[in-house]
Amino acid sequence: MGGRFITLEGVDGAGKSTHLTWLVKQLRSRGHRVAQTREPGGTPLGEKLRELLLGEPMHLETEALLMFAARREHLERVIKPSLARGDWVVCDRFTDASFAYQGGGRGLSTEKLGILETWVQGDLQPDLTLLFDVPIDIAAQRMAGADRQLDRFEQEHADFHQRVRAAYLARAARMPERVKVIDSRQSLEDIHKQLELITSSV
Ligand code: TYD
Repeated sequence: MGGRFITLEGVDGAGKSTHLTWLVKQLRSRGHRVAQTREPGGTPLGEKLRELLLGEPMHLETEALLMFAARREHLERVIKPSLARGDWVVCDRFTDASFAYQGGGRGLSTEKLGILETWVQGDLQPDLTLLFDVPIDIAAQRMAGADRQLDRFEQEHADFHQRVRAAYLARAARMPERVKVIDSRQSLEDIHKQLELITSSV
Protein backbone atom coordinates (compact mmCIF):
# COMPACT_ATOMS: atom_id res chain seq x y z
CA MET A 1 0.00 0.00 0.00
CA GLY A 2 1.82 3.11 -1.22
CA GLY A 3 1.25 6.60 0.02
CA ARG A 4 -0.45 9.29 -2.01
CA PHE A 5 0.50 12.90 -2.60
CA ILE A 6 -2.53 15.20 -2.34
CA THR A 7 -2.38 18.96 -2.75
CA LEU A 8 -5.02 21.58 -1.98
CA GLU A 9 -5.30 24.76 -3.98
CA GLY A 10 -7.53 27.77 -4.44
CA VAL A 11 -7.61 31.55 -4.31
CA ASP A 12 -7.13 33.21 -0.94
CA GLY A 13 -10.45 33.01 0.91
CA ALA A 14 -11.65 29.81 -0.81
CA GLY A 15 -11.82 28.00 2.54
CA LYS A 16 -9.09 25.51 1.74
CA SER A 17 -7.58 25.43 5.26
CA THR A 18 -10.87 24.34 6.85
CA HIS A 19 -11.25 21.52 4.33
CA LEU A 20 -7.62 20.48 4.75
CA THR A 21 -8.06 19.90 8.49
CA TRP A 22 -11.18 17.80 7.86
CA LEU A 23 -9.53 15.81 5.07
CA VAL A 24 -6.47 14.92 7.14
CA LYS A 25 -8.69 13.67 10.00
CA GLN A 26 -10.76 11.70 7.53
CA LEU A 27 -7.73 10.02 5.92
CA ARG A 28 -6.28 9.16 9.35
CA SER A 29 -9.60 7.61 10.37
CA ARG A 30 -9.30 5.40 7.28
CA GLY A 31 -6.01 4.11 8.73
CA HIS A 32 -3.54 6.08 6.65
CA ARG A 33 -0.43 7.69 8.11
CA VAL A 34 -0.65 11.29 6.95
CA ALA A 35 1.98 14.02 6.87
CA GLN A 36 0.25 17.40 6.83
CA THR A 37 2.38 20.17 5.40
CA ARG A 38 2.28 23.43 3.47
CA GLU A 39 3.94 25.65 0.90
CA PRO A 40 5.71 27.93 0.92
CA GLY A 41 7.12 26.32 4.07
CA GLY A 42 7.08 22.80 5.45
CA THR A 43 10.74 22.81 6.56
CA PRO A 44 12.66 25.15 8.92
CA LEU A 45 14.34 26.88 5.96
CA GLY A 46 11.09 26.88 3.97
CA GLU A 47 9.25 28.60 6.82
CA LYS A 48 11.92 31.33 6.88
CA LEU A 49 11.51 31.77 3.14
CA ARG A 50 7.74 31.89 3.66
CA GLU A 51 8.12 34.84 6.02
CA LEU A 52 10.11 36.72 3.38
CA LEU A 53 7.75 35.73 0.57
CA LEU A 54 4.61 36.83 2.41
CA GLY A 55 6.06 40.03 3.82
CA GLU A 56 8.84 41.45 1.71
CA PRO A 57 8.30 43.23 -1.63
CA MET A 58 10.50 41.67 -4.34
CA HIS A 59 10.89 41.23 -8.11
CA LEU A 60 8.45 38.72 -9.53
CA GLU A 61 11.23 36.39 -10.68
CA THR A 62 12.86 36.52 -7.24
CA GLU A 63 9.47 35.53 -5.85
CA ALA A 64 9.17 32.57 -8.22
CA LEU A 65 12.74 31.42 -7.56
CA LEU A 66 12.27 31.55 -3.78
CA MET A 67 8.98 29.62 -4.05
CA PHE A 68 10.80 26.87 -5.95
CA ALA A 69 13.86 27.01 -3.64
CA ALA A 70 11.56 26.37 -0.67
CA ARG A 71 9.88 23.62 -2.69
CA ARG A 72 13.20 21.90 -3.46
CA GLU A 73 13.98 21.70 0.25
CA HIS A 74 10.45 20.54 1.05
CA LEU A 75 10.53 17.76 -1.54
CA GLU A 76 13.89 16.48 -0.33
CA ARG A 77 13.28 16.65 3.40
CA VAL A 78 9.56 15.97 3.78
CA ILE A 79 7.56 14.97 0.72
CA LYS A 80 9.78 12.32 -0.89
CA PRO A 81 10.85 10.63 2.41
CA SER A 82 7.22 10.48 3.57
CA LEU A 83 6.03 8.94 0.30
CA ALA A 84 8.96 6.51 0.38
CA ARG A 85 7.78 5.31 3.81
CA GLY A 86 4.32 4.72 2.38
CA ASP A 87 2.80 7.70 4.18
CA TRP A 88 0.25 10.01 2.59
CA VAL A 89 1.24 13.62 2.14
CA VAL A 90 -1.42 16.33 2.26
CA CYS A 91 0.07 19.64 1.23
CA ASP A 92 -1.56 23.07 1.49
CA ARG A 93 -0.55 24.45 -1.95
CA PHE A 94 2.17 23.25 -4.32
CA THR A 95 3.36 24.04 -7.86
CA ASP A 96 -0.11 24.81 -9.25
CA ALA A 97 -0.02 27.84 -6.93
CA SER A 98 3.14 29.05 -8.66
CA PHE A 99 1.44 28.78 -12.06
CA ALA A 100 -1.64 30.57 -10.68
CA TYR A 101 -0.01 33.34 -8.58
CA GLN A 102 3.40 33.97 -10.18
CA GLY A 103 2.09 33.02 -13.65
CA GLY A 104 -1.53 34.20 -13.78
CA GLY A 105 -1.34 36.82 -11.05
CA ARG A 106 2.06 38.39 -11.69
CA GLY A 107 2.46 37.50 -15.37
CA LEU A 108 5.60 35.34 -15.24
CA SER A 109 5.77 33.17 -18.37
CA THR A 110 4.54 29.61 -18.24
CA GLU A 111 7.73 28.63 -20.04
CA LYS A 112 9.96 29.89 -17.22
CA LEU A 113 7.72 28.28 -14.62
CA GLY A 114 7.82 25.02 -16.56
CA ILE A 115 11.63 25.06 -16.50
CA LEU A 116 11.63 25.54 -12.72
CA GLU A 117 9.01 22.83 -12.30
CA THR A 118 11.10 20.29 -14.23
CA TRP A 119 14.31 21.33 -12.50
CA VAL A 120 12.90 21.13 -8.98
CA GLN A 121 10.56 18.14 -9.12
CA GLY A 122 11.53 16.15 -12.22
CA ASP A 123 8.48 14.10 -13.10
CA LEU A 124 7.05 14.01 -9.58
CA GLN A 125 3.48 15.37 -9.58
CA PRO A 126 0.72 15.18 -6.99
CA ASP A 127 -1.51 12.11 -7.37
CA LEU A 128 -4.49 14.35 -6.74
CA THR A 129 -5.07 18.09 -6.53
CA LEU A 130 -8.22 19.52 -4.98
CA LEU A 131 -8.95 22.96 -6.35
CA PHE A 132 -11.40 24.88 -4.14
CA ASP A 133 -13.07 27.36 -6.41
CA VAL A 134 -15.10 30.38 -5.42
CA PRO A 135 -15.99 33.67 -7.13
CA ILE A 136 -13.59 36.43 -6.12
CA ASP A 137 -16.22 38.67 -4.52
CA ILE A 138 -17.16 35.88 -2.10
CA ALA A 139 -13.48 35.11 -1.39
CA ALA A 140 -12.89 38.81 -0.67
CA GLN A 141 -15.80 38.89 1.78
CA ARG A 142 -14.38 35.89 3.60
CA MET A 143 -10.96 37.51 3.81
CA ALA A 144 -12.40 40.80 5.03
CA GLY A 145 -13.90 38.87 7.96
CA ALA A 146 -10.50 37.47 9.02
CA ASP A 147 -9.26 39.02 12.26
CA ARG A 148 -5.57 39.10 11.31
CA GLN A 149 -3.30 41.15 9.14
CA LEU A 150 -3.48 40.23 5.44
CA ASP A 151 -0.24 39.10 3.76
CA ARG A 152 1.32 40.47 0.58
CA PHE A 153 -0.78 38.23 -1.70
CA GLU A 154 -4.04 38.67 0.16
CA GLN A 155 -3.61 42.45 -0.09
CA GLU A 156 -3.55 42.33 -3.89
CA HIS A 157 -6.44 43.87 -5.86
CA ALA A 158 -9.46 41.95 -7.10
CA ASP A 159 -8.14 41.78 -10.68
CA PHE A 160 -4.98 40.00 -9.45
CA HIS A 161 -7.16 37.41 -7.72
CA GLN A 162 -9.34 37.11 -10.84
CA ARG A 163 -6.25 36.23 -12.88
CA VAL A 164 -5.14 33.74 -10.22
CA ARG A 165 -8.55 32.07 -10.30
CA ALA A 166 -8.60 31.97 -14.11
CA ALA A 167 -5.11 30.42 -14.21
CA TYR A 168 -6.12 27.75 -11.70
CA LEU A 169 -9.25 26.87 -13.69
CA ALA A 170 -7.32 26.78 -16.97
CA ARG A 171 -4.80 24.38 -15.42
CA ALA A 172 -7.61 22.20 -14.08
CA ALA A 173 -9.19 22.09 -17.54
CA ARG A 174 -5.86 20.96 -19.03
CA MET A 175 -5.28 18.29 -16.38
CA PRO A 176 -8.73 16.99 -15.44
CA GLU A 177 -7.38 13.61 -14.35
CA ARG A 178 -5.27 15.11 -11.59
CA VAL A 179 -6.99 18.39 -10.72
CA LYS A 180 -10.54 18.16 -9.35
CA VAL A 181 -12.49 21.38 -9.03
CA ILE A 182 -14.71 21.71 -5.96
CA ASP A 183 -17.30 24.48 -5.79
CA SER A 184 -16.56 26.11 -2.44
CA ARG A 185 -20.01 27.72 -2.26
CA GLN A 186 -21.57 24.34 -1.44
CA SER A 187 -22.48 23.40 2.12
CA LEU A 188 -19.75 21.81 4.24
CA GLU A 189 -21.74 18.57 4.16
CA ASP A 190 -21.78 18.47 0.35
CA ILE A 191 -18.09 19.32 0.15
CA HIS A 192 -17.25 16.54 2.61
CA LYS A 193 -19.26 14.03 0.55
CA GLN A 194 -17.43 15.09 -2.58
CA LEU A 195 -14.04 14.87 -0.85
CA GLU A 196 -14.80 11.39 0.44
CA LEU A 197 -15.79 10.23 -3.01
CA ILE A 198 -12.78 11.72 -4.79
CA THR A 199 -10.19 10.55 -2.25
CA SER A 200 -11.57 7.02 -2.04
CA SER A 201 -10.47 6.33 -5.61
CA VAL A 202 -7.05 8.04 -5.61
P1 TYD B 1 -1.88 30.35 2.05
O1 TYD B 1 -2.14 28.91 1.89
O2 TYD B 1 -2.94 31.29 1.58
O3 TYD B 1 -1.57 30.68 3.56
P2 TYD B 1 -2.62 31.13 4.66
O4 TYD B 1 -3.84 30.25 4.50
O5 TYD B 1 -1.89 30.91 5.95
O6 TYD B 1 -2.91 32.58 4.35
O7 TYD B 1 -0.50 30.63 1.24
C1 TYD B 1 0.22 31.81 1.31
C2 TYD B 1 0.32 32.55 0.00
O8 TYD B 1 1.39 32.08 -0.83
C3 TYD B 1 -0.91 32.53 -0.86
O9 TYD B 1 -1.45 33.83 -0.94
C4 TYD B 1 -0.43 32.11 -2.23
C5 TYD B 1 1.06 32.24 -2.18
N1 TYD B 1 1.81 31.28 -3.01
C6 TYD B 1 2.32 31.68 -4.25
O10 TYD B 1 2.14 32.84 -4.65
N2 TYD B 1 3.04 30.79 -5.00
C7 TYD B 1 3.28 29.51 -4.60
O11 TYD B 1 3.95 28.73 -5.31
C8 TYD B 1 2.74 29.10 -3.33
C9 TYD B 1 2.97 27.71 -2.83
C10 TYD B 1 2.00 30.02 -2.57
